[in-house]
Amino acid sequence: MTEERITIHWDGEPLPARQGDPIAVALYRQGIKVQTRSIKYHRARGPQCFTGDCPGCMVRIDGIPNVRGCQTGAQDGMRIESQIGTPTAKNDIFRIVDRLFEHFDHERRFVRPRIVRETYQAIARRMAGFGTQPTDSITTTSGEQIETGIFIAGGGPAGLAAYNAVRDANANVLIADADGFGGQLLHTPRSVDAGPHGEHPGPRLAQNLAPPERERIDGTVVGIWDDIAAVLEETPDGWAIHTIKPDTMIIANGASENPAMIDGNDRPGVLGARAARILLNRYRTPPGDPLIVLDPYREGQAFAQEAQDHGLTVRIVDEAIRITGDPAVTGVDTPNGHVQATAVITDSGLTPSPELGRQAGIPYTYEEALGGRTPLHRPDGSTPIPRVLIAGSAAGHHTPEAAIRSGRWAGQTAAGTPPKAAAQTLLSEGRFEDDEEGALRRVWRTA
Ligand code: FES
Repeated sequence: MTEERITIHWDGEPLPARQGDPIAVALYRQGIKVQTRSIKYHRARGPQCFTGDCPGCMVRIDGIPNVRGCQTGAQDGMRIESQIGTPTAKNDIFRIVDRLFEHFDHERRFVRPRIVRETYQAIARRMAGFGTQPTDSITTTSGEQIETGIFIAGGGPAGLAAYNAVRDANANVLIADADGFGGQLLHTPRSVDAGPHGEHPGPRLAQNLAPPERERIDGTVVGIWDDIAAVLEETPDGWAIHTIKPDTMIIANGASENPAMIDGNDRPGVLGARAARILLNRYRTPPGDPLIVLDPYREGQAFAQEAQDHGLTVRIVDEAIRITGDPAVTGVDTPNGHVQATAVITDSGLTPSPELGRQAGIPYTYEEALGGRTPLHRPDGSTPIPRVLIAGSAAGHHTPEAAIRSGRWAGQTAAGTPPKAAAQTLLSEGRFEDDEEGALRRVWRTA
């Protein structure tokens, strides 16, 4: 595979990059972990998720502020600036604010006399916030109004499995995703069992299940109201918002990684295990070397194995006191001493992304085994809201196999051919194989 080498500009410095790789990845590969600063205390921030769920990669690109670097492909000649930091995020003189305010409550300081308060507030307002106004206006074009039989919001393993189940039933379908189609399959190098669609390494499976152009939109579902979905798509003429009115909707917009509850968890170079797998397996960029994997569970163990297969030095730490480094990670303090590393990988599980499910009116309940707040749903994906189904990580089914099964069942149900297996799962009291299915049964009972 040939890769087109390009040049991008970071705070005025030319840097090599690969055409189409996300900006945040291109910067990380060049050792640039500090990509922005926090809006209040100017603490160093870097990418933590590579899925659009954190503020660690927000940069200014060609004069447009607040662009997520992990969701934007690098193009030759792009001018990228760290939007918070004077003069740059790396050398920000206002990082002193964090030190100054470390030991006292700034909410109660500088309150009197009034002149001091007003001066303080004027300075604070100028220093806080996300960058400055765009230099150019952003072009928008009117989108299309589309009616379809079944609309699937999200093209990860669950969305793709739902899409293929609907296609197998010859129903009319449209699917939307902005981040390529495949979700976690794209960073899962091992073979994944997709049921009737065979077993393949994740990226190949994603290719096999991918929808043709006429049945997909390469855009993000940004909202659902009544029974309409809004999809934001970048087109050659600018940004367009399409409105989709389906007979039935399947929500499969995934989950976000939980941050580790440990001092120093916000330092650049701290990544969730899924983020580390995306960086290593999808973009062939080592997160660091040597690496620490903190208290690994399923995703962390998979990453540790994959990192070792790539020849990286992996140190497993089960008990840590704090993550060290200033600004970027240098290691971890443990009860037995300091362990050095250039990246720390955490594994604190996933939380179903609730935005679309809640907008569609699905009630959520707390279910630990499914990852926290979870939408009420049956095994076949149906919810208390008529003609709205939910599947995959968005419903708490996080492994590729569980997401695929859940998506397939939702697709079959939406297409009017509900799966017998789903009904049996619901009925086979006491015969659940793992926590996840037991939890699903409990969730459904409360509906
Ligand atoms: S949003 Fe880009 S790294 Fe988290």
